[in-house]
This record gives sequence, structure tokens and C-alpha cells, in this order.
Amino acid sequence: MDYLALQETEPIRRDDDLGVWIVTGFEQVRKLLRNPALSSAWPENGTTHLHDQQESRDGVRRTSDIVRRWFMFNDAPRHQRLRGLIAPLFSTSRLAELQPFVEESVDQLLHGVAGQIDVMLDLAVPLASRVVCRQIGLPPEVAPRIAAWASEIDALLVADYLPEVVERGTRALEEIEQAVATARAGSEVPAGSALEILSHAFGTGLIEELDIAATASLLIFAGFDTTSTFIGKAVRALMHTEQWSAAASERITSLVEELLRFDTSVQQVARIAVEPVEIEGHRIERGELVLMMLGVANRDTDAFTNSDVLDPGRQSSRHLAFGYGAHYCLGAGLARMEVSAALNGLVKRFSHAELAEPPVLRPHNGVTVLEHLRLSIRN
Ligand code: HEM
Repeated sequence: MDYLALQETEPIRRDDDLGVWIVTGFEQVRKLLRNPALSSAWPENGTTHLHDQQESRDGVRRTSDIVRRWFMFNDAPRHQRLRGLIAPLFSTSRLAELQPFVEESVDQLLHGVAGQIDVMLDLAVPLASRVVCRQIGLPPEVAPRIAAWASEIDALLVADYLPEVVERGTRALEEIEQAVATARAGSEVPAGSALEILSHAFGTGLIEELDIAATASLLIFAGFDTTSTFIGKAVRALMHTEQWSAAASERITSLVEELLRFDTSVQQVARIAVEPVEIEGHRIERGELVLMMLGVANRDTDAFTNSDVLDPGRQSSRHLAFGYGAHYCLGAGLARMEVSAALNGLVKRFSHAELAEPPVLRPHNGVTVLEHLRLSIRN
């Protein structure tokens, strides 16, 4: 389906083949993401016609208990309670404290690199894994396992009508639960980490014990592939739009912001109607799934002039790459910091970079994942 064409003609449309609503207009997405009649608990309750067929055949069980607990897939008041607990991990002051760790990690990862680099394997993947472990409070030895866990969970959320995908995703979630249990049983859960905050909340009866591992797995799912792949995409964009060696830090910041809009990583977020919703002459019935196409909405010509042009000078952060409303991305500031640190680290160290091989993408999952980005570089 040509979603960009759809935006011009039918910014809100029911797809009768899939049995879902597709929303592509910028203002329409914003309006619906503010509407409390649209719930985030879609993995449990939302079905498409693919689910109807599969479930009636195999009786496949949907979503694990752990995913149902993610605050991303809950509404008020549970959403606010859990989000509120770990929000301080992403405050401006916390990010300022984290910045030296992020920059030192970039320096360590780039130390000794010469001639060639796989931006994904040598920089983006280990950086995003280390940062997510640090925020959670998992030891650094766990970092190399993050990518595989995230990939299995990605698949689970996209194709939970396939039994083998459910099996592998469930195993990854169990391994995370185990890693969390081991870290909590150790003598030192890092001060101020998600594990410390959540263990304390469990101790005071505010949350249940499984909410701790659930929130850790949410941070891995939400914070890893999104950020690592975006680092790779930003490096490519930098090679196309700027003179590599002349790219100053402010220009990198505005390029990153514009790229978030232009090449939106999370193409869609879903909601399910818990009450009928009337909008622009349409009626979304209770129980219907609504897909908000963030990437298409970010190309809406009514919201952005020359929206199909990547214009680093645009200087607008009024895009939907991090979502909108109550579920706005908690890690937006952290992601921006990681991407900028990675780009600045590369530009500072290398005077020239060019593609050594075509990039390797992993298709299929909710977020298109860059697996390899091999560059030839000169110091
Ligand atoms: C470029 C990188 C990233 C992108 C494009 C991105 C995108 C998004 C989007 C679109 C949402 C909204 C989901 C919805 O409305 O249903 C979201 C939510 C979320 N993101 Fe991010 N994200 C990124 C990085 C991160 C990082 C680094 C973390 C943390 C380590 C993170 C943690 C979260 C969490 C916890 C939520 C759920 C918020 C809630 O439900 O209240 N994200 N993200």
C-alpha cells in the first residue's frame, strides 16, 4: 500500500483486508494519540484477521505475562505508576551524569580502530547495549546478550501468531528474568539504577516482583534496536549530507533531529479502541485496532514544508519519531545523546569515511534493524 498517497486522500482509513484502521495524517495521529478511548493494551486485546485465522486453528496463546506488564502496553493508572518510578533515570540531571560514561564508551570502542569499521558491530551495538545495561543496573558482562534478546522480543511483538516466534521470544524474556534475578541476588545493585528503584518499590508493596523483570525487558526492547540502528542511519546520513571532516557538533545535532523525522525508525504504534471514537466522519468501533503511521505522518506536507527532503537546516523537533502524548518516549534525550556522542566520536577521530560494502539490513521486524555498516576510514 502506498501510505504517502493515502495521506493525501484518506489520512484515516479502515483497511478491510486486515481489519485495522490506518492513520497517516500528522494532526490526526496527534489527535488520536491524545484520546483516552484509545488504549495501549493492544498486544493483549488487539487482533487482526491474521490472528483470527491462526488462533482458531492452533489456539496459540498471545503475549507472555511479562509483556502484558510493560507500562508501554498499559493505560492509567498503572502506566503512570510504573513510568513515574523510572522516569528519574531519564531526567536532565541524570543524563548529564551519564554523558561522560557514554562519551568514554565511544572512545574505548573506537580506540585502535583503523582502516575499516563496522559501525554496527564495533560501535552502535556495543554502545547501546552498555547504556541500556547501565540504566537497568545489569552488569556489563550481560551487554553482549542484549542484541539477541531484543531481536527475539521484536519478532514476538510483530508476529505473535507464529508459534515458533512465540517460543523464542518467551525464552528470551525468561533469560532476562534470570539475569535480573542474578543481579538482584548479588551484593551490589547499582545505586540509582532501574533495578534499585524497582526493588525498593516492590519492597514497599507498590509493585509486584515480576514488574521488575518486566520493566527491564521493556527497556531492552524499547531502548536497544531503536538506538543502535539509528546510530548507523545517522552515520550514513552524515556521509551523504555533510563534509565528514567539517561536521561540527551543532550541525550533527540538527542533522540527527531532522533524520529522526525523515527516516523515522518506529514506523507505527498501535492502539485499541476501548470506546467508539468519532473522528472526521469515521467511527472507530470498540475493540478495533488503530495503527498510527508515525513515519508517514512525519512526511505530512501540511506539517512540514518539502517534507520529502532531508534538510538538516530545518531545526524542528515537532516530529513524531518518539511518539506523542502520555507514552512519549522516555529515552528520547538519552537516544539523542548516544547518537550525537557516536557521530562526534567518529568525526573527531577519522578525517574521511566511505562505504566499504552495502549496508546489511534485517528486514521483517517492527523496527528495520541495521546489522552491518562497513566503512573504509582514514585517520
Ligand atoms: C532513536 C531511538 C528511539 C526511538 C526512535 C524511540 C521511539 C519510541 C516511540 C515511538 C515510543 C512511543 C510508543 C507508543 O506510543 O506506543 C517510545 C516509547 C518508549 N521508549 Fe523509546 N525510542 C528510542 C530510544 C529509547 C531509549 C534509548 C529508551 C530507554 C533506554 C527508550 C525507552 C522507551 C520507553 C520506556 C517507552 C515507553 C513509554 C511509555 O509507554 O510511557 N526509547 N519510544
